[in-house]
Amino acid sequence: MNKDGKIGVFDSGIGGVTVLKEILKILPDEEYIYFSDSKNNPYGDKTDEQINCFCENIVNLFIEKNCKAIVIACNTASAKSAKHLREKYPNIPFIAIEPAYKMVYDYSYNGSTLVMATKGTIESEKFNLLYHKYDNHKTTLLPCVGLADIIEEGNKEKIREYLVNHLGQYKGKIENVVLGCTHYPLIQDLIEDVLGKVKFYNGAPYLAKHLKDVLTENNLISTCTTKGNIEFIDSSNSTKKEERFFKIIKA
Ligand code: DGL
Repeated sequence: MNKDGKIGVFDSGIGGVTVLKEILKILPDEEYIYFSDSKNNPYGDKTDEQINCFCENIVNLFIEKNCKAIVIACNTASAKSAKHLREKYPNIPFIAIEPAYKMVYDYSYNGSTLVMATKGTIESEKFNLLYHKYDNHKTTLLPCVGLADIIEEGNKEKIREYLVNHLGQYKGKIENVVLGCTHYPLIQDLIEDVLGKVKFYNGAPYLAKHLKDVLTENNLISTCTTKGNIEFIDSSNSTKKEERFFKIIKA
């Protein structure tokens, strides 16, 4: 791995943009490749074997394109494939997002908590280890089947309707919301419209800090100033996704 390699960031779609935005705040001079695997999304209802296979294809492409580190900006892929990828590619650092449930334990142990994530994340062994370690006994785990999909589509009315149907019963009863899917920070305002005022927990700022630490420890911080160049690749060649992605990055 060399300092002037790129940082590969991937998700099943454009949700991982919420992670890349945090990374850019503290690593603005690195060069990035963002891979949106919209051909295979949603990941949330796929088997471990399918997700391992999607992730391997993305990692092989990142390696071909000279990536020095890889960010798994998808909670589902992290939960199901991070271990497998680290074993299969021991020479490249993987930085993986996970639901920020430990933060609730650290900062709001007595607060009623809703963990929103895909079914795949909530049922995964990795998330269950985290959950049982930090369980505050006031937590509801909510598998949001199909939500990432409609966020990906970008239809606000559909999203609002989904949230009213699935979160309406928790209105006024929840203090903490763990955003356990990288698509969900894009709809924080809509979640609050339904639940009322809540405190959000998002693992992305911590992941960004961890990435910087890993690059520093491995002497991999870039020496050229590429001013945060981003190459965007979408597996179904969607120009609409690309436009939306850069609109969110620049917002
Ligand atoms: N953004 C992904 C996550 O963080 C999942 C979306 C999907 O189901 O594809 O879990």
